Amino acid sequence: MKKIVLSGIRPTGQLHLGNYLGALQKFVRMQQEGIYDSFFFIADLHALTTQPDPALLHSNVRHIVAEYLAAGLDPDKSTIFVQSDVPEIPELYLLLNMHVGIGELMRTAAFKDKARKQLGITVSHDDDDNDVAREIIGNESNKRVNAGLLTYPTLMAVDILIQHADFVPVGKDQEQHLELTRRFARRFNSFYGVDYFKEPQNFNFGGKPVKVPGLDGSGKMGKSEGNCIYLVDEDKALRKKVMRAVTDAGPTEPNQPMAEPVENLFTLLRLVSTPDKVEFFTNAYNNCEIRYGDLKKEIAEDILKITAPIRERTKEIENDEQYLARVLKQGAEQARERAAKTLADVRGIMGITPFWK
Ligand code: TRP
Repeated sequence: MKKIVLSGIRPTGQLHLGNYLGALQKFVRMQQEGIYDSFFFIADLHALTTQPDPALLHSNVRHIVAEYLAAGLDPDKSTIFVQSDVPEIPELYLLLNMHVGIGELMRTAAFKDKARKQLGITVSHDDDDNDVAREIIGNESNKRVNAGLLTYPTLMAVDILIQHADFVPVGKDQEQHLELTRRFARRFNSFYGVDYFKEPQNFNFGGKPVKVPGLDGSGKMGKSEGNCIYLVDEDKALRKKVMRAVTDAGPTEPNQPMAEPVENLFTLLRLVSTPDKVEFFTNAYNNCEIRYGDLKKEIAEDILKITAPIRERTKEIENDEQYLARVLKQGAEQARERAAKTLADVRGIMGITPFWK
């Protein structure tokens, strides 16, 4: 039996270089290994937790499917599907929620961040869990935190458990959700005295999870920070963004430690360029001879080597309605096969089976 790989991305906009290097590139590599049964999907139900515009959500789903295919995911090798095309997922989500504690959901880091954003409260990471709970419960403004956001981890656990995934390649920010998934699996198994759900693991090809820095000097690449490079950026726009990346006045003494914005540029360079270039610019920095303009030019050109072909293929695929429909229909059918079996098993285990069959 092949090991099962599964991962997904929320369709909140066009994919950026962080999504590609942190997730999509890994998906393609795992597919190419040829030893896994792999599932890659678009988590459109998860996107509803932030109440997107319906037309925009729909076009984002289509766009990201095109980007998946353009980046090398192949419907003949992987199951590529849209989460909402698998109705077994929301049903299992209802069932699993009966074993999930609201306290453990409220203590999830991603929930605390997003809940506070929805309430318009500034986010600070070292706040006490109880403070956050009090803020949410005691909030009397007309803003609210929706229940879907609270149960986001249940839905994600279901995505994973319904396919019995062994490996779930995700970035560092998703590790807590994966830990909860394992906990829910163990709890279900022990409550019903079964050995049914597997505990999924992250997968990083033996390395550390990649963290792609943004261009504004601090933090990671993420569209909310407006510091990112999209896979579909045109050459000129992309070069301009990189040339504008934050740096400093340059080193004044040999082997000076790098400030964060400069360190970030070197991280990008290591991700997209050859070891020779990394060595060249590291030496230039250490000898105080570095010209940031040259460094940025190289970074921009090497990013374009990766993104330009994906961009061109995305444009072609995105306009091929028939092809997209075919891929997603096939993907939904394949994804539903195992999902239906899991749902039937779980209904049986929980005692929810019809009397009339
Ligand atoms: N929560 C993930 C993210 O924000 C997306 C996601 C939803 C996911 N369901 C998943 C990732 C299942 C892996 C497996 O990136």
